Amino acid sequence: MKKCEYRSLPSLKEARNRAASTNNIVDDLKVPEAVKKYAKGRYFFIKTFGCQANIRDEETMAGYLSRAGLVRTLDPANASIAIINTCAVRENAEDKVYGEIGSFKAKAEKDPSFILGVSGCMMQEEGVAKFIEETYPFVSLIFGTHNLPNLLHLLNDVITKRERLVDVLSFPGEVVEGLPSVRLSSFEAYVNISYGCDKFCTYCIVPYTRGKERSRKAIDVVNECKALVNAGYKEITLLGQNVNSYGLDLKDGTSFASLLESVANLGVKRLRFLTSYPSQFTDETIDVMARHDNIVKWLHLPVQSGSDSCLRRMGRRYTRGEYLSLVSRIRAKMPSIALTTDIIVGFPNETEEEFEDTLSLCKEVGYSAAFTFIYSPRKGTPAAAIKDDVSDKTKHERFVRLVEVVEESTAKHSESLIGKTLSVLVEGPGKKGEGMLTGYAECGKPVNFLGPEYLKGALVNVKIKESHTYSLMGELVDDPLIAKAKDVAFLMEKDPLLHEFLALTDKISVDPIYHELGENLVQAKKDLALSMGDEKKHEVALKAYEDVLSKIQNDPFLANVTSLTPLVEEKLVEVRDLLK
Ligand code: SAH
Ligand code: SF4
Ligand code: F3S
Repeated sequence: MKKCEYRSLPSLKEARNRAASTNNIVDDLKVPEAVKKYAKGRYFFIKTFGCQANIRDEETMAGYLSRAGLVRTLDPANASIAIINTCAVRENAEDKVYGEIGSFKAKAEKDPSFILGVSGCMMQEEGVAKFIEETYPFVSLIFGTHNLPNLLHLLNDVITKRERLVDVLSFPGEVVEGLPSVRLSSFEAYVNISYGCDKFCTYCIVPYTRGKERSRKAIDVVNECKALVNAGYKEITLLGQNVNSYGLDLKDGTSFASLLESVANLGVKRLRFLTSYPSQFTDETIDVMARHDNIVKWLHLPVQSGSDSCLRRMGRRYTRGEYLSLVSRIRAKMPSIALTTDIIVGFPNETEEEFEDTLSLCKEVGYSAAFTFIYSPRKGTPAAAIKDDVSDKTKHERFVRLVEVVEESTAKHSESLIGKTLSVLVEGPGKKGEGMLTGYAECGKPVNFLGPEYLKGALVNVKIKESHTYSLMGELVDDPLIAKAKDVAFLMEKDPLLHEFLALTDKISVDPIYHELGENLVQAKKDLALSMGDEKKHEVALKAYEDVLSKIQNDPFLANVTSLTPLVEEKLVEVRDLLK
């Protein structure tokens, strides 16, 4: 068995520390030589569990690995590097990870050059990294959420030292900008606005696994979003464990509402954000949402419980009344907004009365959907230390009762959409049968309808005909070809390269100097052709032709057009492929 170097292991006590201030640094994107050499002709595979923050981390890891020269594969059998990106939020998320690690045993034992990495939130828990290192000797690299920008250097050490490596930091360190990224979608994108969480809800592991809350600078977020809009992305989701506290740590007056407005002003077709913390949701944010049509009228507003005493024990800093008052303020400005939520059942010592308060709150709000979880004790969190007198049986019974109530309002919301025409972002072919497409309405509900596959990535109008609680069935209202043409036109219109090229060629077509140069070139070519057979004439014609050519080649303006031409051609091929 290969030796294992333990560089650092996580400590929840240290992870709880919030004292250090955060600096910004920009990644130098250097690829170590040994990694470059290893990467040649090889593939990588990443399996991600957990939330959008982890999906975004996968895209960053894919960015680093692609930079090194590796190519993504969706088939783990072809991979030379596989990374399992884990989630720690509940126990059942963790169980799946061990199965996934085990599935690589035979491959790892057969191929000594294969590198299996395990990363993500679970590694930040005390004891997990060591357990995995000892139980799965074929795992080569274990790293945490804070080591991500160091990925290529960690791989370099594994490759050059031929050792296994465990490096999980407890401190988040700097906010790193300029991270590479290979996005999983070409039309919907996640953009981090902040990392970490300072809320410390008593049941939750996230503040330990993701560390101190750190906001990115507004300018960095806006620039990333601008580039996405220019690249034709239709939907942007701003990400933070608590978006509403965005900017407070920057201490320069930046607020979530102002950031949201700046991004909305970039003209992205659909703008969403996750996740909101009720007591920090400002009226200013409500106003920005109401003002901008491109901010979706859907809000995920986790309540966790409908009981004041339970909310207090959970460390949630609002009451049932305050939550409901926020819901009314939101609905006063946006009457048709769809609200979704997260609810935990069976928090330690939850009473029947407290649980019923949650049921009644759900009925009162009428969520369009809700994620319901049975409480899962997380080692090291305050709630895990509470002696719990509620039996598993009672928790399961309550869970079933809650799901019934939630399903009722989910179905009611879906039914209310029958007959309406909704804007749907098309994901691609659906599972519902031949010719069916699936996409998402603004409210987050999946919509299935008949349509051609080339609509993938387009926003189309669909009239809803049937509702099936969790999904909707409809008919395409738009002519599919026109919808696609509009889609591509949007892409072309936003492309700065095409703009530059067209502006240059426009200038050339009206400028008399270039007009004359063009005429001269045509004439010189003609003279050259006619001079064939007469050596003296040919020599003079060749000289004249070369003179015109050199004038053209040495003109910086024309050289610019020449250098842009292959890039524009590439873009047009892309458009042709989109239209296929
Ligand atoms: N920052 C987000 C997401 C946190 S994790 C937020 O505050 O909403 C997503 C959801 O998982 C939480 O909203 C909560 O409902 C659930 N969750 C978190 N810890 C849990 C635990 N220990 N047991 C069960 N569910 C939990
Ligand atoms: Fe966890 Fe609470 Fe932070 Fe959400 S706000 S990540 S539930 S501690
Ligand atoms: Fe899971 Fe980490 Fe997200 S614990 S929910 S992947 S922040």
